[in-house]
Amino acid sequence: MSRETGGALLSMLQLHHEQPVPLYRQLETELRRLILTGDLAAGLRLPASRQLALDLEISRLTVKNAYEQLVSEGFLKAVRGAGTYVAQISTYELHPQDIPSQSEPSAHRQRLSERAAAVACTGATTRLEGFRAFRPGVPALDLFPRKIWAAIYSRVLRQGDGDLFSYGPAGGLPGLRRSVAEHIRDLRGVRCEPEQIIITAGAQQAFALVALTLLNPQDVAWCEDPGHIAGRDALALFGIRALSVPLDSDGFDLSHALNSLPSARLIFVTPSHQHPLGMTLSLERRMQMIEYARLSEAWIVEDDYDSEYRYVGRTIPSLRSLDRYGRVIYIGSFSKSLFPGLRIGYLVAPPDLVDTFAAGQILLSQNVSPVTQEVLRRFIDDGAYHAHIRRMKSIYQVRQERLLEALGKHAADLFEASFTDAGMHTIAWLKDDHVSDTAIAQNAWAAGVDCLPLSIFCNRESIAPGLMLGFACAHEEEIPDRVEQLVTAVRKGSSLTR
Ligand SMILES: Cc1ncc(COP(=O)(O)O)c(C=O)c1O
Repeated sequence: MSRETGGALLSMLQLHHEQPVPLYRQLETELRRLILTGDLAAGLRLPASRQLALDLEISRLTVKNAYEQLVSEGFLKAVRGAGTYVAQISTYELHPQDIPSQSEPSAHRQRLSERAAAVACTGATTRLEGFRAFRPGVPALDLFPRKIWAAIYSRVLRQGDGDLFSYGPAGGLPGLRRSVAEHIRDLRGVRCEPEQIIITAGAQQAFALVALTLLNPQDVAWCEDPGHIAGRDALALFGIRALSVPLDSDGFDLSHALNSLPSARLIFVTPSHQHPLGMTLSLERRMQMIEYARLSEAWIVEDDYDSEYRYVGRTIPSLRSLDRYGRVIYIGSFSKSLFPGLRIGYLVAPPDLVDTFAAGQILLSQNVSPVTQEVLRRFIDDGAYHAHIRRMKSIYQVRQERLLEALGKHAADLFEASFTDAGMHTIAWLKDDHVSDTAIAQNAWAAGVDCLPLSIFCNRESIAPGLMLGFACAHEEEIPDRVEQLVTAVRKGSSLTR
């Protein structure tokens, strides 16, 4: 530490008196920059603060402030009685040969973890934004009773317990857990203690929590194919081998899985309304699946994502309601029944795993906002939730009918589509099965109409081309025009073969 700097440093420092940034901050930034670029080498002694202040025509306090900050960050070293020096920053010690070479330094994916690389191209991010007709998975956002919600929100902010403004108890607010437990008991036949409900940031986080808590990397999960992309890829993100199981008219083809796949630690299913195709898992399959899980001590994740909307017949009881052995982890969400931006879902944990799930939730992202949980709790308990679902159910039924009428009128030669018993979307199968549904969907997007091609839900299996059309967020009056736009786009793309 013997070399000194003075005039050289002065010539490199650029301070601008006219800028709103205080001079001590400018000096700090400049010195940091010069140290990082190597212009001020380790061991160099900086001018005394008094001297630098005189040279730069700034106050001594400004220089002292900047020096002290950089000493606290480790860029400078103050040696009592000897002055201030540029510190040794370890990267400058490294020789080029010490730095592992990258075959393609510019390839971003080279730097990903193995788990992230496995899902870097996930289709789960396809068209998440927006909510124009016929965007699947998005409810009628404009019909959400914002005034009621806002009034409750305002009451909670004004009168709510101070605890609501803190982190909140692990697992969720007891009141909301109780309301959710009652709701799923009444609607889905799920019997559980309120303490078993873990409030999560949507169903998606519940999937991650299950993977984190119950499985090890390389464990096998059986997943529907076509199936829910974000669920499957969340498992893969945790290093789990998410293997494809084809579907038949009864849903998840269990015998295919039993005969041709390694045994599973987890089965991921949407039994009430298969995503995306919409069939219901038959009772026989349900019982077989539970029996398999019992015998092999596997878990079943029941993703009951849109069960609030059933248009024909009575609501089908959940798979969880048939499980006497505690193998089914039931997962629900408020994304379809209220709005996805709420980011609240839940899982029903086995009694002895409640604490572990709750702890996992805290480690993944802390609790869902207690204020929002309390607003939701009151929204449910006041009856607004059930009223909203009832109202939406009759509106969605009409919207679906309008959609099918318009498809029948304008596109009977192009599509095969039928009334779906449940949920918020229908499938329009393309009659010409040589065309590419992806290319057609892209044409539709460009023409201003939303939809998702069925092929994006496939992992290994391939199915006939089709479009997933969401009717929930499409206004009745706009449906005929949007269908015409869609049909034009499809006709334009009908030469685009797969
Ligand atoms: C099959 C399926 N499960 C669950 C969800 C809900 O996920 P979240 O609650 O994270 O919004 C969706 C949403 O699109 C879905 O399609």
